[in-house]
Amino acid sequence: MSTAPSLTLRGVDIYQQYLDRAAQQALVEDLRGVQRVAPLFSPETRFGRKMSVQMTSAGKYGWFSDRRGYRYERRHPSGVDWPPIPDSVLAIWHKVTGLERTPDCCLVNFYREGARMGLHQDRDEADFGYPVLSVSLGDDGLFRIGHEARGGSTESIWLQSGDVAVMGGAARLLHHGVDRIRPGSSTLLAQGGRINLTCRVVD
Ligand code: SIN
Ligand code: MN
Repeated sequence: MSTAPSLTLRGVDIYQQYLDRAAQQALVEDLRGVQRVAPLFSPETRFGRKMSVQMTSAGKYGWFSDRRGYRYERRHPSGVDWPPIPDSVLAIWHKVTGLERTPDCCLVNFYREGARMGLHQDRDEADFGYPVLSVSLGDDGLFRIGHEARGGSTESIWLQSGDVAVMGGAARLLHHGVDRIRPGSSTLLAQGGRINLTCRVVD
């Protein structure tokens, strides 16, 4: 199993600075390989608005959204299979969650300056008994956590490059989102911005 989280916010376990700089750089390199096969795209919401976050995925499934709704797809919009989840990502998943089961999807979110993600639940998966694991790279992102039900109070934390967070157990279905990033707060990504990976068991 993993080491203890450095803090827990509403049941979300946060491992601050879990990845050192070299590990972060190796992940960025692996993600470049993912993006070469499956380039970032800007999904549309159900309401036909372009999301400000750009996305792609690795694994058996990729997360996708358009006017037909939110869902997992077997292929990138270009028609190619999603590339495999890099071993570097799987290693973090197994170490931190302690699970043998491999995730089916690693969603890659890219936030440029001004990008945000509204409060939502991750609920397109079949079994909420499995946690969602998140890895932050690059600029700081202001992560907001609410309740399982809509509305009510929220608490926020700046996630930094190298931080890992786990939403599992009673925290699995909490509403969460990213209000904004802090441009220029990290030198990890040459062009700036923030990458967030989330690994999910889908089936
Ligand atoms: C997500 O909820 O898919 C992304 C969360 C984050 O960017 O930290
Ligand atoms: Mn989410």
